[in-house]
Amino acid sequence: MNRKYRKPLIAGNWKMNKTPTEAKEFMVNFKGILPRSRWCDIALCVPAVCIPAAVRAVRETRIAIGAENCNANASGAYTGEIATNMLVDAGCKYVIIGHSERRAMGETDQDVNAKVKAALEAGLTPIMCCGESLEQRESGITEEWVTIQIKRGLEGIEAESIRKIVIAYEPIWAIGTGRTATPEQAEEVCELIRAIIRKQYGAKIARATVILYGGSMNEKNAFDLLAKPDIDGGLIGGASLVPEKFVKIIEATNQPAV
Ligand code: 13P
Repeated sequence: MNRKYRKPLIAGNWKMNKTPTEAKEFMVNFKGILPRSRWCDIALCVPAVCIPAAVRAVRETRIAIGAENCNANASGAYTGEIATNMLVDAGCKYVIIGHSERRAMGETDQDVNAKVKAALEAGLTPIMCCGESLEQRESGITEEWVTIQIKRGLEGIEAESIRKIVIAYEPIWAIGTGRTATPEQAEEVCELIRAIIRKQYGAKIARATVILYGGSMNEKNAFDLLAKPDIDGGLIGGASLVPEKFVKIIEATNQPAV
């Protein structure tokens, strides 16, 4: 983290977990143990049906609610899809875009790019995900792969919008596997992502961009990951489902600025 230029963000991704009733229960417990100090921004991205209950439960707190996906179109014949203005109206502040689990269902870099643009236009903060598979890492193409994902994902987006985007580096081999990237491995790619942004948009924008790490981040390894200068927070799956664990990760952002 580098607090001088960026406010850390701890974001949860519940994936396909919890009912609206369970979401409400979680928020009540979470609010009860959330530290008062504002070391970081906090977001919970929840299943679409949980959004109303979650938004109601966190009213007048600093917890932001987000969605896990959106459609790039404004409205129309897209059965089962949800537009960005619907998410805003429901009270969302964030939306995860291009998670590897959605890319595995066929989402392309072009889809990601269109969704990021739609989210920005609606006033949502997109959390744009990237990351390599184990096979790609082992064949030494991580850098090349992540560079392509970032460049295509951000194509055609104006410089002044870049600072409104959060980027999450999530190596696929670390997601849900308990096999976390080492702080050095995670930092190496987060640093690369910042360098890509610096080259394309300049040092000032690169310094202001929030870059998260995700992949088996938990209450035990968060402190060491967050100690790295280019890791500005986390996108947390499993550990965001348990209020006590999520709070411990938030507390791990309380460390001296690098
Ligand atoms: P886990 O923290 O469960 O590995 O999930 C990470 C993730 O995919 C967050 O988007």
